[in-house]
Amino acid sequence: MSKVTIKDILDAKKEGRKLTMLTAFDYLTASQIDAAGIDMILVGDSLGMVGLGYENTLPVTMEEMLHHTKAVKRGVKNALIIGDMPFMSYQLSEDEALDNASLFLKEAGAEAVKMEGASERIVELVERLTSIGIPVTGHLGLTPQSIHQLGGYDVQADTAEAAKTLMKEAKAIQKAGAFSLVLEKVPADIGKKVSEALKIPTISCGGGPGCDGQVLVTSDMLGLFTEFKPKFVKRYAKLSEEMKKAFESFRQEVEEGKFPGKEHSY
Ligand code: KIV
Repeated sequence: MSKVTIKDILDAKKEGRKLTMLTAFDYLTASQIDAAGIDMILVGDSLGMVGLGYENTLPVTMEEMLHHTKAVKRGVKNALIIGDMPFMSYQLSEDEALDNASLFLKEAGAEAVKMEGASERIVELVERLTSIGIPVTGHLGLTPQSIHQLGGYDVQADTAEAAKTLMKEAKAIQKAGAFSLVLEKVPADIGKKVSEALKIPTISCGGGPGCDGQVLVTSDMLGLFTEFKPKFVKRYAKLSEEMKKAFESFRQEVEEGKFPGKEHSY
């Protein structure tokens, strides 16, 4: 295994190799994901919900994102690390957006940033960032930072008109220089069509098997976050059950005087 680069990600699409991305926000999880050979680690702003217990991703700050990206960086040898630009870290002004994006690379050790949307200003920002050497992943379809405007976490691009808009936006993000594009919660046939129309890889988060890669929130796929489960999530483990069992066993053994035993004592 060697260090994953932006070129590797672009080559994967040319070679028809499926890409993998998982989220992480701590050292231990990042090191396990890295050891499993996952291509990209996203320090997602989903941190807000699954790591910090916020109701949605909106309260997450740059300070929190940088803190957790640094922890992830310390656990990773090979995976490409992408820092997620939190809500209002790139919407206010171009200068502030450039500053914040650069902090992910300069201070936290990320190798790329992700941002949601494709308004004229975002497209210009992607152009600007990539022109100064900051690789960008786009994020279209369901964009959780716009949750209040969208009115919920529904499937996006599910009408002919909305699908046409998605296609137009995806092409604009590609033209602006993004190296990949997350497609969240869009119908599988639309995910496939957009993927076929782009040269850069699409990474599906509920965008179907026709996308060039797949991303899951790690706490979801491990069965750690169980408050709700979107249809696109597959649980590969039941860690919350395992944790609860372990905590209960510990409590019981301490209460019954079974732990610590001789082997745990000096
Ligand atoms: O924040 C996040 O984890 C994300 C993924 C769901 C793509 O944006």
